Amino acid sequence: MPTRRQTRFVVITGSDTGVGKTVLTAWLTRQLRAAGVNAVALKPLCSGGRSDARALHSANGKTLSLDEVNPWHYPAALAPVLAARRVGQRVDLSEVLTLARAVAGRFDLVLLEGAGGLLSPLGEDFDNRDLIRELRATPVVVVPNRLGAVNQVRLVIEALPRRTQAEAQVVLSEVPGAGAAGRTNPKLLREWLPKLSITLLPWVAGGAMAEAEGDRRRVAAALKSLAGAL
Ligand SMILES: Nc1ncnc2c1ncn2[C@@H]1O[C@H](COP(=O)(O)OP(=O)(O)OP(=O)(O)O)[C@@H](O)[C@H]1O
Ligand SMILES: [Mg+2]
Repeated sequence: MPTRRQTRFVVITGSDTGVGKTVLTAWLTRQLRAAGVNAVALKPLCSGGRSDARALHSANGKTLSLDEVNPWHYPAALAPVLAARRVGQRVDLSEVLTLARAVAGRFDLVLLEGAGGLLSPLGEDFDNRDLIRELRATPVVVVPNRLGAVNQVRLVIEALPRRTQAEAQVVLSEVPGAGAAGRTNPKLLREWLPKLSITLLPWVAGGAMAEAEGDRRRVAAALKSLAGAL
């Protein structure tokens, strides 16, 4: 009997909240699926609404239900651990790992969007870094490409589980008007982290919902090597 290749996990994290994790995850999932990869995206914990989960549910081609994409969701726009406590609930790492592993049985590649930045607390006993460590996931680190990005990338890479640092994929997300800093960040980063894999993600009006053919081509070109590295 042929042995099934082990499912790979990718955790999409970043330097902060609001940096473009959902936009990237949705685009990447669509691109991988269009290329024939049996990939799916999850957003295990949502706080302050479920719009991220809806965007990923749609990018998945609705292969999973919204509740499978996002089992834990809380109304308060706070760190998930606090938003859960507000409604008398708690989420533990083992529950999220159980979900991820159950989904993994049906897919070759599972992308999980974290919440907040790398060290934002997710539940009672874990943050995004713990998810990366426990799932042996490849970290994708999204950082807005503006003044200060070199520091932010270095901080996040430094804070990753040591074993995953070499395989981390950095995505510098274009920020309109970032000027000279945006143009020079990639080269400066390569001077300081020569082995780092960096993808420049274009700014596309409409974000994850952008449907224009030209926009799709620009995004696809930007994500090609990233998708190949996962
Ligand atoms: N490449 C991009 N092109 C156009 N808009 C973008 C891009 N990246 C992010 N945005 C916009 O920036 C905002 C934040 O992006 P997004 O929701 O993806 O961030 P996030 O890191 O997932 O945030 P959260 O921490 O809330 O999950 C959204 O309005 C999104 O449409
Ligand atoms: Mg998001």
